[in-house]
Amino acid sequence: MVNWPSAKVAEKADSPPTFSPMDGKVVEATALRTDRYFGELHVSPMSKNYLDAAIEIAQEAGKILVEEFSRPMEIHYKGDEVDLVTQADKRSEQLIVARLIKYFPEHSIAAEEGTGKETSSEFRWHVDPLDGTTNFAHGYPCFCVSLALAQRDALLAAVVFNPYCDELFASARGEGATLNGQKISVSRNATVSTSLLCTGFPVRNRKTSPNLQYYGDFTQRSHGVRRDGSAALDLACVAAGRFDGFWEFNLQKWDTAAGVLLVEEAGGRVSDFAGNAYQLGGPVILATNGLIHEEMRSVALEISRRAPGSPQR
Ligand code: IPD
Ligand code: CA
Ligand code: CA
Repeated sequence: MVNWPSAKVAEKADSPPTFSPMDGKVVEATALRTDRYFGELHVSPMSKNYLDAAIEIAQEAGKILVEEFSRPMEIHYKGDEVDLVTQADKRSEQLIVARLIKYFPEHSIAAEEGTGKETSSEFRWHVDPLDGTTNFAHGYPCFCVSLALAQRDALLAAVVFNPYCDELFASARGEGATLNGQKISVSRNATVSTSLLCTGFPVRNRKTSPNLQYYGDFTQRSHGVRRDGSAALDLACVAAGRFDGFWEFNLQKWDTAAGVLLVEEAGGRVSDFAGNAYQLGGPVILATNGLIHEEMRSVALEISRRAPGSPQR
């Protein structure tokens, strides 16, 4: 669950310029300010605008990824393990950051390859210009662009775009989640034993990851555990009901921000293994259809007792 802010989501001073990100035409300010309320959270149609901008930018970045995917790969290592970076990560991020700065000059941008910027704004974009770099670098077409906007702790808009399959997952807070414009919702599977699950493994500190224990145990208790190599797509697939549950350790904010909003808006639940609200960048994420959440938590608890030192939150 996202912590609901008591303040308004869209503060006038920090509003994006009044233009349509789709066609660049100026939009009347009054057309953007007929606000609606969702409980304590004040969701303005402005967040729709944010979403439109995010969709446009993700699609543009997706074109770069597809173009680069058909070229010989230029692969570099970020560290001494298997943390890869390609020309595609960099080109995609360059486009995304430039476009976000153009549209929302006051907003902060946290982008994986380090070209974002810090401002005093409480609006922050979480940018993964290419989630699934290892897949991409090996020619396995399971990768995406992941973009999300948060105001403090509240996620407002999210896009996960798989350009190879032309699948665009999108969500604005309070508006549900969509795949290529069609509403999506989480699955209705009520037991782990009949579930298809998903997880991932870190590219850094692999030897200290506790996840092999969890992977083995959940594999034996379910229809199977997939490991697709893109946390953002994994979460999008939970939102779309393709997977019933997903967990992973030590993901970064840009890996999960968009997917978390998608899952929540598709009717699912996101927490840590202890059942506390998931904080972006927290050590464990558990995202499910809601129905198997408690069962997955109790299995995780059981495993953690056998694997001392594994994080619960
Ligand atoms: C990775 C993917 C992968 C996850 C890794 C992430 P990247 O992101 O999301 O699924 O298991 O922990 O680092 O490096 O491809 O952007
Ligand atoms: Ca990532
Ligand atoms: Ca990445």
